[in-house]
Amino acid sequence: MKKITKKHLSQMSKVPRLNLVNCVTGYKSANLIGTVSTEGILNVAVFSSVTHLGSEPPLLGFILRPTTVPRDTYKNLKEMGYFTVNHITEEMIADAHHTSSSYDEHISEFDKTNLEPEFIDNLKVPFVKGSPVQLLCKYVNEYKIEENDCIHIIASIETIYADEKLFHEDNWMQLDRGNVIAINGLDGYAVPKLADRFHYARPDKPSTSML
Ligand SMILES: Cc1cc2nc3c(=O)[nH]c(=O)nc-3n(C[C@H](O)[C@H](O)[C@H](O)COP(=O)(O)O)c2cc1C
Repeated sequence: MKKITKKHLSQMSKVPRLNLVNCVTGYKSANLIGTVSTEGILNVAVFSSVTHLGSEPPLLGFILRPTTVPRDTYKNLKEMGYFTVNHITEEMIADAHHTSSSYDEHISEFDKTNLEPEFIDNLKVPFVKGSPVQLLCKYVNEYKIEENDCIHIIASIETIYADEKLFHEDNWMQLDRGNVIAINGLDGYAVPKLADRFHYARPDKPSTSML
């Protein structure tokens, strides 16, 4: 096994350190966040930090990098109050990755990629067409992470739109049925495949498969 200490990390140049530290916490969720500006310009960008925060009330959060450069997603969701979270599928990965490039706020990433906006229920905020799980989210709060100037955005899940074929009877969604991908590090995209699913774990009883 390789041993890498905090001292080694501090001596590394930027890219190898970024790569390494972004991999060590494991696979991350892969989402496209859709927003619209007050001028009506659509924005879409890839985020790997969207996480479940709680189900009652239904909340999610994501980490926003320091606002030392313009962050269109942040500006739009603060001004409009809403954004969408869209699972990335295998077919979308190159376009999804491309949304991380820093286009001017007047340019829509939807015009620079094959990703298509989808407008549902007369909402102004764009979803990503073909994404098997699409969430309408409302900005609730934010917390500054003092240690690195990142921002933890907290949002409520207002509406879930999801492909019927993902659902099991108990509302558990089997994401591999939708070819949903996961992010490996900063720029790697993986296609996870379900290995098993288990009944509720109880002390001293072996876990049993539900499948
Ligand atoms: C795989 C991947 C994951 C990313 N995850 C995040 C993230 O969690 N938070 C973040 O602030 N930026 C993240 N980014 C960078 C944003 O996609 C990038 O800053 C983008 O330009 C933001 O667009 P915006 O300025 O339109 O909001 C990620 C980029 C890549 C390639």
